[in-house]
Amino acid sequence: MVERLATTCGPLELANPVLAASGTFGYGDSFERFWPLSLLGGFVTKTLFVAPRDGNPAPRVAETSAGMLNSIGLANVGWEAFVRDKAPRVNALRGRSRMIVNVAGNAPEEFGEIAARVEADRDVVRCDAVEVNVSCPNVKEGGTNIGCHIGQFRDAVRRVRAATTLPIFVKLSPNVADVVPFALCAADEGAEGVSLVNTLYGMQIDTERRAPVLGTGSGGLSGPAILPVGVHWVFKVRAALPELPILGIGGITTWRDALQYLMAGAQAVQVGTASFVNPHACPDILAGLDRWCASRNVAIRDVVGAAHRVGEAVEEPVWTG
Ligand SMILES: Cc1cc2nc3c(=O)[nH]c(=O)nc-3n(C[C@H](O)[C@H](O)[C@H](O)COP(=O)(O)O)c2cc1C
Repeated sequence: MVERLATTCGPLELANPVLAASGTFGYGDSFERFWPLSLLGGFVTKTLFVAPRDGNPAPRVAETSAGMLNSIGLANVGWEAFVRDKAPRVNALRGRSRMIVNVAGNAPEEFGEIAARVEADRDVVRCDAVEVNVSCPNVKEGGTNIGCHIGQFRDAVRRVRAATTLPIFVKLSPNVADVVPFALCAADEGAEGVSLVNTLYGMQIDTERRAPVLGTGSGGLSGPAILPVGVHWVFKVRAALPELPILGIGGITTWRDALQYLMAGAQAVQVGTASFVNPHACPDILAGLDRWCASRNVAIRDVVGAAHRVGEAVEEPVWTG
């Protein structure tokens, strides 16, 4: 099983292509009682800021017909507590599974600050890469989403790059007209790869209360509803930037969903919401991929980007309706 599932995502050598996504897996130890963490190719921590955060007012999650909405508000323990309390514990559990620390700030400058903290503590934390969560409001710019404004996006990525030599994966927002220029910008600024997609804006109204369900009104949509959106953007980024390593995310529930991302061009995938429904989602997906590879006598590496037929133009533009 080991060799046919092995994959490489830029500088990351992964025993297999299944990672747990940020915010759905705590700091790496949340699923310990269900299965061993060392089974995963890797995992991404909850987004960490320099200082702890309480997050948004409740309710912070709501179920939708094909997914969920969340407005957690990036509640986290802060960098110091992560280094002191979480990292040593998770390092004792993870074996060869890669640890990616996900970071963010309230303004581009704060991205540089948290990245500098990661760099300073890298030997203690022993993380393998940094994922940059640009989907946060810029408090200095009236709450605009940093990940949706190319200037602020570039500034944040540049500051992270200047502060650390660890591999950087920039996590892209799908809440823009075109994700490709953001991937290009991340590559331009020296990121080793991109993770996509984060959640899509959404809202649910409680028709009895005549008010939004979530405490913040809107939130981020995740789960099966967004699978085709993530696959679409991974395909487009791969077509535009064939050399840029990609971690594919969004709506993966089954091994076949994961395979769609790999064939669209991702070297590995992250599983989020599915783990809330089935705590064994990650190992189940892994087992399914292994069975599929064995039955076709192929390795995961052979299928990455397989949906791009060499020499054929990618249909452009896309007409809908
Ligand atoms: C409850 C919840 C919390 C999340 N928190 C974070 C976070 O802290 N940082 C981040 O980069 N993404 C966060 N995400 C986004 C996920 O990592 C992932 O990009 C998104 O949910 C799409 O994948 P999925 O459909 O498999 O869940 C969160 C998602 C959920 C559902």
